[in-house]
Amino acid sequence: MKALIPAAGLGSRFLPATKAQPKEMLLVVDRPAIQYVVEEGLASAADEVVIINSREKKSIEEHFSPAPELVAMLRERGKDKYADAVEHAGSLNVSYVYQDEPLGLGHAIYCAHEKTADEPFYVLLGDVLVPDNKMLPRMQDVSDAHGGASVIAVMPVPADQVSRFGVIAGEAVADDVWKVSSLVEKPAVDEAPSNLAVFGRYLLSARVMELLAEGKPTVGGEIQLTDALDAVLREEEMYALVIDPADGFDTGTVESWLETNNVLFQRAAQQ
Ligand code: G1P
Repeated sequence: MKALIPAAGLGSRFLPATKAQPKEMLLVVDRPAIQYVVEEGLASAADEVVIINSREKKSIEEHFSPAPELVAMLRERGKDKYADAVEHAGSLNVSYVYQDEPLGLGHAIYCAHEKTADEPFYVLLGDVLVPDNKMLPRMQDVSDAHGGASVIAVMPVPADQVSRFGVIAGEAVADDVWKVSSLVEKPAVDEAPSNLAVFGRYLLSARVMELLAEGKPTVGGEIQLTDALDAVLREEEMYALVIDPADGFDTGTVESWLETNNVLFQRAAQQ
């Protein structure tokens, strides 16, 4: 089973910081943001993390490659703590596929279809960090309890923010689990079917990947993952795990990235 991390986006909201550096490589406390996401994927039931990269973002691949000369130099100088950190980053089991055109999240995910090979798969969006790595196992438990159904993480958001997200319709079947009946990408505020927004963690059936092969551009002129999820509901059940906003950290805007750095730095200092 694979964990897919789309990383081919332009990072426009962070320009000019992202002019010569991928957004995914921006520092969060002590490591690039994408390293948290890779570590989360590897802490789940996934055996490999697949980054869906753009060919211009080679520094992501350099970060996850071994650097034996740097490690040896650090050890000679007695800097074992840094040597260990560099070795760790280079040892994470990551592979790459490429999205050559920015046609949307659904298209990015489909670029990894040969990797997932008819198995369920996770999708982890890098705009959100889950440093305690607990969300994917909880989603896996919900899936196991419902015959291997797809499960998406959702978060309650203020009514005036629904148009930034995918939003679900459905009904609660437990305190923190909904059975999903439909999804809509970035609805107008007065057309949203609930205030539960898709949060950036997905456990999806192999059928979703098949439906993405037929994806057509819709909202924003992009091929949307949300449309394939809505389509699969005609054939399969899907559940949503309602998460507490405190379970994840947004890094999608400069403001939220700064706030996430603050909170995680304070936590690290207390340990
Ligand atoms: C994407 C998804 C959306 C989801 C959001 C979560 O949108 O299309 O359904 O709610 O991520 O961050 P984007 O933020 O890429 O516009």
